[in-house]
Amino acid sequence: MKKFSVAVYGYGGRGKIYADNFHTLGIDVTAVCDIDEKRLKIAKSKYKSETYLNGEEFFQTKRADVLIIATLDDGHYEPCIRALRMGYDIILEKPISMVKAECEEIKKVADETGQSVTVCHVLRYAPFYKTVKKLLDSKEFGEIIHINLTEGVGYYHFAHSFVRGPWRNKKISAPVILAKSCHDMDMLTWLVEKKCLSVNSYGNLSFFRKEKAPTGATNHCVDCPHKNSCEYSCFKIYLNESYEKLAGLARHGRLGDSKEEIVKSLSNHKNLYGRCVFACDNDVFDHQAVTMQFENGIIGQFTLTAFTQKIGRTLHVYCEKGEIYGDAESKKVCYKIFGDHQEKYVECTYENEIYASHGGGDMGIVKDFMENYGKANMLSDIHLSMQSHEMGFAAEESALNDGQNVKLD
Ligand SMILES: NC(=O)c1ccc[n+]([C@@H]2O[C@H](COP(=O)([O-])OP(=O)(O)OC[C@H]3O[C@@H](n4cnc5c(N)ncnc54)[C@H](O)[C@@H]3O)[C@@H](O)[C@H]2O)c1
Repeated sequence: MKKFSVAVYGYGGRGKIYADNFHTLGIDVTAVCDIDEKRLKIAKSKYKSETYLNGEEFFQTKRADVLIIATLDDGHYEPCIRALRMGYDIILEKPISMVKAECEEIKKVADETGQSVTVCHVLRYAPFYKTVKKLLDSKEFGEIIHINLTEGVGYYHFAHSFVRGPWRNKKISAPVILAKSCHDMDMLTWLVEKKCLSVNSYGNLSFFRKEKAPTGATNHCVDCPHKNSCEYSCFKIYLNESYEKLAGLARHGRLGDSKEEIVKSLSNHKNLYGRCVFACDNDVFDHQAVTMQFENGIIGQFTLTAFTQKIGRTLHVYCEKGEIYGDAESKKVCYKIFGDHQEKYVECTYENEIYASHGGGDMGIVKDFMENYGKANMLSDIHLSMQSHEMGFAAEESALNDGQNVKLD
């Protein structure tokens, strides 16, 4: 393994996960930059790293071999170009950028400088999808004919991120098909291993809109007569202990640590997360379907929906000689070989619960990076991940043009 150190730019939910994982595996986290002082204190005490509140100061000099960029979607392009030119190799959160030309520019500068850019398509590293890939590579199933992937975002998670939160509006974030589903586009291209030729898509914002509000609803949950009955009441979402991700969502929204703090911040009209989901400035689709034509006549279909109880993905790959399918959360990949008349399955192995976020992908990418650093075969190198972004931009274009077919270059 080639030795290296990492620095972090944007130490929020994602930046912290990667820094923690590298730190756990013995890699030095030498410097962390974030505009939030509280977060920097945590970083300093955990990794004894230098901390910077200000990007200008942070970029004065190169502070590690690798820079993890995990700021929000509109904060990827500039630091990435700057860091590449300073000689950093980059681990870049997805999407590469919310603007297609900026994605292309980042790839171009990576080529010019010879630095690597690894895009955080963490699902490629998750045991469930790695198992599917292994089965497909065995050739026992013949060629892929058709592939279906569905992503259920989870109604409360969708409300948090795509109605009230940072990915709600295309002025400040990428469209949902890119922001959320470039992972899925990437997964489809990785499994299919063929070029995507064209895309068409329909998408709508059907539910999280003004006219769907219950009678008498107010703009903020704190004042609303429905606050104890509405499933989207911020008080139900952030204070309901049965939601496994609750603590994570409250932390992500910086709502506070105790129940009292969370209630207080949600009761403040200025808090974005206290708004009625039917009275936000959201414009991203809450459901979308994409059909993709790949080389060899392979058809891919993808569905994104806010309207699921559970957060998770289901996959079905139809091949010449059999089918492979499963629910990624079940940690079991099922398959049938035609003529066999039996369902079989492979259990996906997870090393340890702390490695479990994103189905094991968050630790998987860190381990893979460590094993392959300095070699030319990073599993989610920008050159491989550009296609998923092109498909995402094409899907958005198609959906905005009533499902018109969009050809990819
Ligand atoms: N790979 C995945 O599966 C996955 C999952 C969720 C989010 N993401 C992506 O990761 C990125 C980060 O998302 P997050 O949920 O961690 O967001 P976050 O808001 O928790 O973290 C962003 C951090 O960047 C900091 N920041 C903002 N401006 C800055 C600046 N100018 N300089 C330095 N720091 C700055 C913020 O203070 C915050 O701590 C987004 O692009 C998101 O789309 C990827």
